[in-house]
Amino acid sequence: MELNRRTVIAGAAAAGVAASALGTGTAQAATSGGGKKPVKELFGTLADGSKVYRWSLENGGTRLKVLSWGGVVQSLELPDRHGKYANVSLGFDNIADYVAKTPYFGALIGRYGNRIAKGQFTLDGKSYQLSVNDGVNSLHGGTQGFDKHIWDVEGFTSGSDVGLHLYYTSVDGEMGYPGTLKVKVTYTLNKHGDWRIDYEATTDKATVVNLTSHVYWNLAGEGSGTIEHHELTIPASRYTPTDSGLIPTGELAKVSATPFDFRKTKPIGRDIRAGHVQQVQAKGYDHNWALDKGITAKPEHAATLHDPHSGRTLKIASDQPGLQFYTGNFLDGTLTGTGGHTYRQGDALCLETQHFPDSPNHANFPSTVLRPGQTYKTSTIHTFSS
Ligand code: GLA
Repeated sequence: MELNRRTVIAGAAAAGVAASALGTGTAQAATSGGGKKPVKELFGTLADGSKVYRWSLENGGTRLKVLSWGGVVQSLELPDRHGKYANVSLGFDNIADYVAKTPYFGALIGRYGNRIAKGQFTLDGKSYQLSVNDGVNSLHGGTQGFDKHIWDVEGFTSGSDVGLHLYYTSVDGEMGYPGTLKVKVTYTLNKHGDWRIDYEATTDKATVVNLTSHVYWNLAGEGSGTIEHHELTIPASRYTPTDSGLIPTGELAKVSATPFDFRKTKPIGRDIRAGHVQQVQAKGYDHNWALDKGITAKPEHAATLHDPHSGRTLKIASDQPGLQFYTGNFLDGTLTGTGGHTYRQGDALCLETQHFPDSPNHANFPSTVLRPGQTYKTSTIHTFSS
């Protein structure tokens, strides 16, 4: 049974559960429909002396902690069906690990989320060579993508909303991309506890842009083991098969009669060992689904994820045409997360709303080109219930 959000919070507060600080960081009194000002604290210092801050936001029963480093969601706490909170997002408790070894935990990704083949593309007759960091390919913006920079962050409250504005300027030529790109990302928590991301960018030269968020979800709580029992729905009849370097071949293949069919809700683990050549190559799911809705003016349903044990449900709505579903295939037990547990393969999953990977090299994929005078705008909404 799906409980009403307000009931859960009220029940938790009455049971004295909501005020218990979980995971790391400062305890804040929990309120429902709060609109409380975001709280800023020092999280760590980089080798060059720059300070990284952590912002804590809380509204409608959702607690979000965000770093000025890469706009990283360091912790996202949600109540289960009994009102008990858990951090459902993988991360670290210190800045050194984020700098040294994060596989993009919780980060904002840019200038181009996902892969560009050989880090090369041609735009208006000019060829560009990007920073290459994934074999011969460029992944998530190159060696120093947007996830590896300090962003300027401002906290705000607006009516019953609380949120953060995050700003980053990527100069012309950074990581090989043309044009100075001014980026503004807004994280908003509304009174129902929904987390909305609004991305905006402008450029002074034609360029390509594909921004996304790289939260690793485990709705049972980070460090609690596999996500294979989570149930997933993706309203997509097609996906983009890849070569062995995870670069799309250009084909939009049908999901029907393959393990890639998530149009009807199914547990992630049901077909993950089906041995489909695409899964073997990717060590699980690590593909872009072409959402049936396509590009939409407003965010529309892109995925639903449900953990039957805790009762937590995440619904994602996006205006983007694609969704990368990644089952944490490269987590290998060498990273220790916020709660002190090591993360192993399949201990989390990512649902990255996006344009298709390698779009700049595929004329049949929707365009990712941004020109001077245009504003790149896209939004993703995460709705939680339990
Ligand atoms: C994305 C990619 C994966 C992997 C992770 C980070 O989701 O699709 O192949 O690189 O990022 O480890």
